[in-house]
Amino acid sequence: MLLSIIDVSMVSCMSSPATSSDREKVVSKLPGWLRQNLKIRTAQHGIDIQSAVEQGISDWCGLASATAPVDTAGADSFSTFLPPGQWEDFRRVAADRGVSLIQGLAQSVQLWLDTNPAPDIERPSVTRRIIVCNQKGGVGKTAITAGLGEALAEDSDVLHAVRVAKALAKALRASDAHPDAPPAGDPLDIENLPGLGLRVLLVDFDPQCHLSNQLGAAPLPMSGDSLTNHMAGDPKGDLRDLIVSIDDSTFGGRLHLLPACNDAFLLDVRLSAVRAREAALERALAPLEADYDVILVDCPPSLGLSMDAAAYYGRRRDGESPGQSGALIVVQAEDSSADAYELLTTQIDDLRGDLQVDIDYLGIVVNLYDSRRGYIATSSLQGWVDIKDPRVVGLIGDLKEQKEAVRMKQPLLSYAPKSQQAIGMRALAREIV
Ligand SMILES: Nc1ncnc2c1ncn2[C@@H]1O[C@H](COP(=O)(O)OP(=O)(O)O)[C@@H](O)[C@H]1O
Ligand SMILES: [Mg+2]
Repeated sequence: MLLSIIDVSMVSCMSSPATSSDREKVVSKLPGWLRQNLKIRTAQHGIDIQSAVEQGISDWCGLASATAPVDTAGADSFSTFLPPGQWEDFRRVAADRGVSLIQGLAQSVQLWLDTNPAPDIERPSVTRRIIVCNQKGGVGKTAITAGLGEALAEDSDVLHAVRVAKALAKALRASDAHPDAPPAGDPLDIENLPGLGLRVLLVDFDPQCHLSNQLGAAPLPMSGDSLTNHMAGDPKGDLRDLIVSIDDSTFGGRLHLLPACNDAFLLDVRLSAVRAREAALERALAPLEADYDVILVDCPPSLGLSMDAAAYYGRRRDGESPGQSGALIVVQAEDSSADAYELLTTQIDDLRGDLQVDIDYLGIVVNLYDSRRGYIATSSLQGWVDIKDPRVVGLIGDLKEQKEAVRMKQPLLSYAPKSQQAIGMRALAREIV
């Protein structure tokens, strides 16, 4: 392509006719921090960088005078596409104002940033309750609860790698493709998007305390207060005082955990003496809801009264739209998982009927997937996909990062933020939100 050099001697800025559109390519300079802010903010608003720059330049030219000087030290190459003629007009205005093109461009971009602040996080009007369940142990309920919660809480002022939905669809279509293989040839399958920035409470509802241990929180001592006590109608204090924050800058104080206590092994026994025991978890957690956008409950591997209480907590409330809260079922791509699934859905369906409540299925997450295991894995995945309602909302590979993060007692998304597993958790979060 032949570049028509416009102003190399003065500020090394050039423009040229674009090949694929009627815009013209402009090459100039921008300081790195400003380029980064522009990248994040445009992603937050879901618009192109070129449209933002066009708007900024047009607004800047329309002002009565230049705006405050921007520090352009260390500016390096930046190129974009503008409508034909805009760059020429801009050059004239900049010359009239006696500012360099680089300074004028920096002011224009800053002006766009100032007039387009980061959008507010969209918060649900009713706190969403996600019940992560399957009475089968070892399928990854705890891993999914943690990873999903982390993905929901990630910083919205930073871009994070996400596997976009079409990549999931593609993997599901070609279920013989290994999920940790790099996306086949199409770099757009992975996108950098702002975090969801939600306030999340993880509830460790399993007496084995795996979620608490995994996130480096001590299980609660038997002698003190616990969720079990609150559910049994025998609280020893405010449940809020038991909550810990999972501190990593990417969660910005938004990710909290209510640790478990071994006394939860006695929960079913203690619940048997409680009035309207299905509502026991709801009664205990309701006072906390105002502080959170999403509450995730990591269920024990059992189908007792505590599972009833969890399913009931996830029921659709008056005024809540379908699919906001409900059961998220974690399975493995192997045949024995299918039997467990039948038992679980039968229990949830019974509860729906007995109590006359709506309990929505938020979807199935196929975890620990490894197509190298051959026909059993691929045909089982197909089996889960064929259920269609609930649909498969996540496919997470069997990968080492998950086990390493557990060993390190660190959240997966801060331990290995760029891993395929983290990318998959973000995809799952976006599939559900
Ligand atoms: N996608 C995964 N890749 C690798 N290891 C995993 C994955 N998901 C879970 N694991 C590991 O498998 C074991 C069981 O997972 P866990 O989440 O505790 O299951 P559950 O809560 O259903 O009993 C744990 O050691 C966990 O770290
Ligand atoms: Mg578990």
